[in-house]
Amino acid sequence: MLKRPATFATPPDRLLPLEAQIEHEELMALIAAADEAYHGRDAPEISDAEYDGLRRRMEAIEVAFPLLAARGLAGKVGSRAQDKFAKVRHRVPMLSLANSFTATDVADFVGRIRSFLGLGAEEPVVLTAEPKIDGLSLSLRYEGGRLVQAATRGDGEEGEDVTTNARTIADIPQRLGGDVPAVFEVRGEVYLGHADFAALNARQREAGDKEFANPRNAAAGSLRQLDPAITAARPLRFFAYAWGEAERLPAASQFGIVEAFGGWGLPINPLMRRCDSVETLLAHYAAIEAMRASLGYDIDGVVYKVDRIDWQQRLGFVGRAPRWATAHKFPAEKAMTRIEAIDIQVGRTGALTPVAKLSPVTVGGVVVSNATLHNADEIARLDVRIGDMVVVQRAGDVIPQVVEVVAGQRPANTEAYVFPHVCPCDLKTDVMKETTAAGVESVVRRCTGEFACPFQRIEHLKHFCSRRAFDIEGFGDKQIAFFFEKGLIREPADIFALQTRDEAPGNLQRLQNYEGFGEVSIRNLFAAIEARRTIGLERLIFALGIRHVGETTAKMLARNYGSWVAFDAACMRVAAGEADAMLEMDAIDQIGESVIEAIRAYFGEDHNRAIVDRLAAQLTIVDAEKAVAESPVAGKTVVFTGALEKMTRDEAKAMAERLGAKVAGSVSKKTDLVVAGPGAGSKLKAASDLGIEVIDEDGWLALVGG
Ligand code: IVH
Repeated sequence: MLKRPATFATPPDRLLPLEAQIEHEELMALIAAADEAYHGRDAPEISDAEYDGLRRRMEAIEVAFPLLAARGLAGKVGSRAQDKFAKVRHRVPMLSLANSFTATDVADFVGRIRSFLGLGAEEPVVLTAEPKIDGLSLSLRYEGGRLVQAATRGDGEEGEDVTTNARTIADIPQRLGGDVPAVFEVRGEVYLGHADFAALNARQREAGDKEFANPRNAAAGSLRQLDPAITAARPLRFFAYAWGEAERLPAASQFGIVEAFGGWGLPINPLMRRCDSVETLLAHYAAIEAMRASLGYDIDGVVYKVDRIDWQQRLGFVGRAPRWATAHKFPAEKAMTRIEAIDIQVGRTGALTPVAKLSPVTVGGVVVSNATLHNADEIARLDVRIGDMVVVQRAGDVIPQVVEVVAGQRPANTEAYVFPHVCPCDLKTDVMKETTAAGVESVVRRCTGEFACPFQRIEHLKHFCSRRAFDIEGFGDKQIAFFFEKGLIREPADIFALQTRDEAPGNLQRLQNYEGFGEVSIRNLFAAIEARRTIGLERLIFALGIRHVGETTAKMLARNYGSWVAFDAACMRVAAGEADAMLEMDAIDQIGESVIEAIRAYFGEDHNRAIVDRLAAQLTIVDAEKAVAESPVAGKTVVFTGALEKMTRDEAKAMAERLGAKVAGSVSKKTDLVVAGPGAGSKLKAASDLGIEVIDEDGWLALVGG
């Protein structure tokens, strides 16, 4: 084994450049040798603590001598600078949490768990309660106990590879100790403490750099640094609280698993408790809230999680959030300021949203100068006027809102606000109030210009390029607005024709002639667009921006139709009013009348059709995953009748839907399978009359492998 370098004890910033270079090389060699011993020969020669010490020393030197960072160990351990981050597909998606705001919400949450699992009144539901850290989530993949990859959450399915940066965070062990599963993804929150945040902003100020609005932005900016030396110089911290892919779990409870994390050397939050009633949850919430200001880091609520892992598994997910957890948020923070103007914004679907322009004010650490007033009815309810003093509030990521007008502070000569009757776009199109299918008048006023309205067009393009849709790198709202104004991009297909048009002989509107577009940035932009020319069906459907078709609906549609050709054909048939096609779409889980109506309207419009056709002609569309179709009940219609003894109805339904089946309430010719328990009556008879297969609960569990 190599000897420890002689200069090891000198603080890195006191090393001479040549000394630093020599020591850096020695350290790289030591680390490489240790890696080889550990992995290649399975015979570690130094302790984990020593190993971590070497890495930290190397990283400290790289902070003091950033040029050395660029030399790295051929990508193996070195902190090499990169152009941009590689993408990492999460093997287990990184989900979000549903929110609770009141004690009633919390009681309802626990109530839903009880009823889903069919628990008796006496049976306690134990939950963990812990602070919700206001940072950014990170997934750390350990193989053989060694950190091999760190990835940001991204859109939950795909994040960014920030391994090199994560390695510079002292809280994150390079190696875990103890009985660690062969593969284990630890998930948790990266954050910045209050004192470190203040010091960082002071440094930024001195250097004439931009200050960060809050610790979370600072943490995010620090982790997503292309130069790892910068990350290393920011004292990021980490708390572990969840997991992704795991070869096995170290315990059968949430609490036990997080405790095991602590035993492996990961930092865990000391305020995690087990609670066995709504009252104890609320008491712990109150205790944490009371400590909030003195914790030294930002938290924005308390997270409750069902402790038993087998229950977590049974409860599963709705959309992107687990049924077994909720974030009990702290009340929104408020501040007072004056309204300087009221602007109208036009959204993607033409909805007119009034926005209050405020005298800038700090609300919970963030400077706010815009707040939503929601709609015309809300303005009327508040009777808010330009010049009024108002209370604004913000909670977490939510857009700040105006909550009330401060009485007695209204200046003289104000006038009640009159909501515009025409769209602020050049077309001055009429603004309509809609009525829902049930005949209720909506509070939303909408511009009827659709794709003719430049505001809607541009919002469509923004949605199209957004992170969860086409996610074109370097093609944010600003760039879209620029291309739109210059008339270079009017609709999605234009994005994919940009390069061909730009390079066409005789084109006088070359990008390179615009300020801010250098050769490299143009090349990068074209490469980013090319990278998205191949797109998954579900992303494409979501990107189309059809009303009511969010991500979950897009996914359901994609999984059901499988290919673009099939989806497109079905939509055309729906648009033509074909009953069969509508019924087929209606049979898809989570899809109902409003979605079908929106699809009918969208595809029924020739203008939209042409836009979609031109777009599809530019793309290579990847069929949706058929994973679900492999289940024995995928695509089948199942009816549950009689009593179930091993699970509740809700649970049975959720299980069936997870496996791609549709659950119906009554037996008809369309039913494929009836699961009958004791006490089944008319439905069982109907099934036998129609010759439909009937099985009991055990048969069902055997069929679906439960
Ligand atoms: S659990 C499947 N626990 O909150 C549930 N999340 O709003 C996984 N967060 O993306 C999350 N503190 O970034 C969990 N103690 C905590 C948390 C926490 C902060 C963040 C996390 C997540 C977001 C959801």
